[in-house]
Amino acid sequence: MKRAIATIGWLTFGVQASLGADDLAPANIIKLNLTAKVDTMPLYPGQETTVWRYVVSPLPPSAQKSHFPVIYVKKGQILDVTFKNGLSEPTSVHWHGLDVPASMDGHPADAIKPGGTFRYRFVVPNRAGTYWFHPHPDQLTAEQAAAGLAGAIIVSDNEEQALTLPRAKRDQTLVIQDRYINGSNQFQYVSNPQGGFLGPHILVNDMRNAAMNVDTAVYRLRLLNGSNTRIYKLAWSNGMPVTVIGVDQGLLAAPVTRNYVMLSPGERVEVWADFRSLTVGGQVKLRSLAFTPGGPVSGFGLNQGAAFDIMAFNATTAVTDPITLPATLSTGVPNYTLAGATNYANPRVIPFSLVNGTFQMNGATFGMDEVAENEKPKLGEEQIWVFQNNASLQMPHPLHLHGSGFRVLERIQSGAFPTQVASMQDGFLDEGLKDTTLVMPGETIKLVHKPLFYSGLFLYHCHNLAHEDSGMMRNYRVLP
Ligand code: C2O
Ligand code: CU
Ligand code: CU
Repeated sequence: MKRAIATIGWLTFGVQASLGADDLAPANIIKLNLTAKVDTMPLYPGQETTVWRYVVSPLPPSAQKSHFPVIYVKKGQILDVTFKNGLSEPTSVHWHGLDVPASMDGHPADAIKPGGTFRYRFVVPNRAGTYWFHPHPDQLTAEQAAAGLAGAIIVSDNEEQALTLPRAKRDQTLVIQDRYINGSNQFQYVSNPQGGFLGPHILVNDMRNAAMNVDTAVYRLRLLNGSNTRIYKLAWSNGMPVTVIGVDQGLLAAPVTRNYVMLSPGERVEVWADFRSLTVGGQVKLRSLAFTPGGPVSGFGLNQGAAFDIMAFNATTAVTDPITLPATLSTGVPNYTLAGATNYANPRVIPFSLVNGTFQMNGATFGMDEVAENEKPKLGEEQIWVFQNNASLQMPHPLHLHGSGFRVLERIQSGAFPTQVASMQDGFLDEGLKDTTLVMPGETIKLVHKPLFYSGLFLYHCHNLAHEDSGMMRNYRVLP
């Protein structure tokens, strides 16, 4: 019998415990149980920390503490997930970046009651890349995410499998989040509809002072910003450039290098991390550099835009790693152009605004089934969306579209925020296929989006989850 290629593992450092293939029958349907529940984990000595987490089964029981689930799937396989809401409030599961039918997308209207179950079942049509899942209930997303609900989905495909890239323990998924941990070792969520939530404690895969022992070799690091509001300006402590091979929706056409990379909430970046210059005993740190965000920045001691270390990589084993960075990576990045869009003459323009203290998009806040006339793209058509961040408060907003990925083709600055722009603009990765991108204060971006597979109701919103919950979110309807 043909066996499923997918495995289920747990994000730990260096270990991906996989199940026997017999647990995953039949081939090409990945059948899982997923439960959202309250749990505890040992984060600091003393009292355990209460977390809300996704538990995937079947899985090795010993692997259940302290880690995010990661689901491995191959493009074209079916994910068949029986979800149980073990929380005391409604929740839904949104498959961030996966192109799924509207009824499977975790829309707030489809939230599952406490104790209820729902079967999410869809084909994974996406390119190889790093995707994720998180809750999406009406006005409760920020709190549930800050309590710990998140997981990763790693998609592979033939093109990606044929490349010589770091594999197995040298392919690591790292979820970066900030928390506010109080004196009793508990996560504290502080609601702030404008500023959002910024915690002073940086965790990677739920580990504080994150560190990983590495070989003197090249690693593929899949970095996911699972924070509610915090933006990272990623760089290496030893000054080596950041070599990027992939973004939200898969590999770039070719690697690029940057002195730093911006990673806003919801975004992913895949980094070629070359530790071959280290000797045993040596260390390099992934850090976030200082930048000027604009807007409210207060973060209980660690402000938005402050500099800090994220994670240390300690060389413990000397090896000879002959791997070379592939000169080309993927032919699958869509070549959308502004001129090729069907609405080139009359693009869809979506301003951000702040009205009576509440952020809006397209001149309104979220209405559960509300869709405006200019929020109806057509299936299969390449269309321009223009987003204008002229909102007061002068904040950057991480914009996210559900459904198919997009290309950011133009960024136009108002000129009113030169310091903010100068401190971030070299870190954008617009050469790849994206589903989330940071829109700077005073900036207008033009992107091209093409709904590839499904008509129906989808969301677009700010991925600063406090903004999303307070209504900086809208529906769009893909017309058949
Ligand atoms: Cu990751 Cu609608 O969100
Ligand atoms: Cu999404
Ligand atoms: Cu926002």
